[in-house]
Amino acid sequence: PKRDRNIRSVMRTRLPGSIIALLEQAGLLAKELGYKVYAVGGFVRDILLARPNLDIDLVVEGDGIRFAHALSQARQGRVKEHQKFKTAVVVFPDGQRIDVATARLEYYEYPTALPTVELSSIKMDLYRRDFSINALALNLSPGHFGQLMDFFGSQRDIKEKTIRVLHSLSFVEDPTRILRAVRFEQRFNFRIDGQTLRLIKNAVQLNLFSRLSGARIAHELQLILDEENVLECLSRLQDLKLLAAIHPQLHLDADRTRVLMELRKVHDWYRLLYLEPPVNTWKLYMLGLTMGAERDSLELVCRRLRFSDRELREFLALRDLLGESLARLMTWAETQSSMSDIYFALDPLPVEGVLFLMARSRREIMRKNISQYLTRLRTQELLIDGSDLKIMGLKNGPNFARVLRKVRAAAIDGAAVTRDKQVELAKSLIRGLEPGGSGTAEPQTAKKPR
Ligand code: CTP
Repeated sequence: PKRDRNIRSVMRTRLPGSIIALLEQAGLLAKELGYKVYAVGGFVRDILLARPNLDIDLVVEGDGIRFAHALSQARQGRVKEHQKFKTAVVVFPDGQRIDVATARLEYYEYPTALPTVELSSIKMDLYRRDFSINALALNLSPGHFGQLMDFFGSQRDIKEKTIRVLHSLSFVEDPTRILRAVRFEQRFNFRIDGQTLRLIKNAVQLNLFSRLSGARIAHELQLILDEENVLECLSRLQDLKLLAAIHPQLHLDADRTRVLMELRKVHDWYRLLYLEPPVNTWKLYMLGLTMGAERDSLELVCRRLRFSDRELREFLALRDLLGESLARLMTWAETQSSMSDIYFALDPLPVEGVLFLMARSRREIMRKNISQYLTRLRTQELLIDGSDLKIMGLKNGPNFARVLRKVRAAAIDGAAVTRDKQVELAKSLIRGLEPGGSGTAEPQTAKKPR
């Protein structure tokens, strides 16, 4: 591949016209300020890979913040600037965002073997990046628009499907890059290059992960859990002993692997149906990843991953709730009683908990019932509500919920499907509550065994 290949025509086939226009304007504005501006990173990589990606990162040789303001002004945008890092985010009225950074030279001592004439701040900026595939710059300057700047064999590595660091201290500088290597490898179906793999194994042996903050690990792990190929990523992490390096409790045994695979399927199914509410992927897969862990070690894992006190409390509470729901489902499985039992077993859980139980279950009938719950029962409205009960003379209090719960059970189990039936049932339940009834009236519609 040519080092100065121009990909303008490729860009035109892969990017919307509005984005091309924006990039051209950026190049023009930079020129007016006496700067040069480049698109860099994942955005450029994904143009070559023909993958949709409109997360635009620009690097300016010049004052990045000043450039960001000029660009923003030209298009009625807003700027959020970080003086300390000389970076800015520009947000345009249509919602498009652009990250702007300032190319800095002072970052590294450059290896002396290289001819000094080659030094440019864009090159230095690219050299501090994680992998060669992310180290391409796309010139936006008028007259050079679309020219690729490939200093480190990026095009060759993309062609050869290789994840390669730019220098041997890359993982020492930033160990989260190890997790990124696996994530990109699995996402693009690339291979981590041999030398890079040795550096990873070295880093694991040197225990570089122990120096990393839990928040940074958690962030990278979350990105992995959002990947299409989450399972492939996890099993690669396991093979490279990276899961254990994060926390010894995080290992994939056969059970966890099975459930994670199923989680993937039920999660896809849920998304395909556009069911609400959206799933918190992190929470969902953490349930699978820590399945079977004792409460104490679970707490240690969560602390390692810098869960806040609140997140930790919520996660532990979810685990406890899951235990209760599971017990109720087991009872159901023995007696195969009514669908309303399924409803009440699952109702206290957030959707992540329900999906987890669905993935965990080995019984076809149980999975079917849980999917019924998610697609139908959960959102099924009763045809009467609190105001009806008030008209019937019921005062606010615990009996309110009790009556509604029994009407709901009857509605789910087919004993009170119409509004008339539900009204009738509520009335008779309320009669049963009358003095002496002590609020424990049984509905007349006994549960039908299924
Ligand atoms: N980067 C890096 N080291 C890191 C994180 C990021 O060198 N630990 C660089 C890479 O050059 C990357 C760029 O910063 O391309 C932007 O980071 P990010 O948005 O996380 O990466 P993308 O490559 O855009 O990845 P994704 O496709 O997952 O958004």
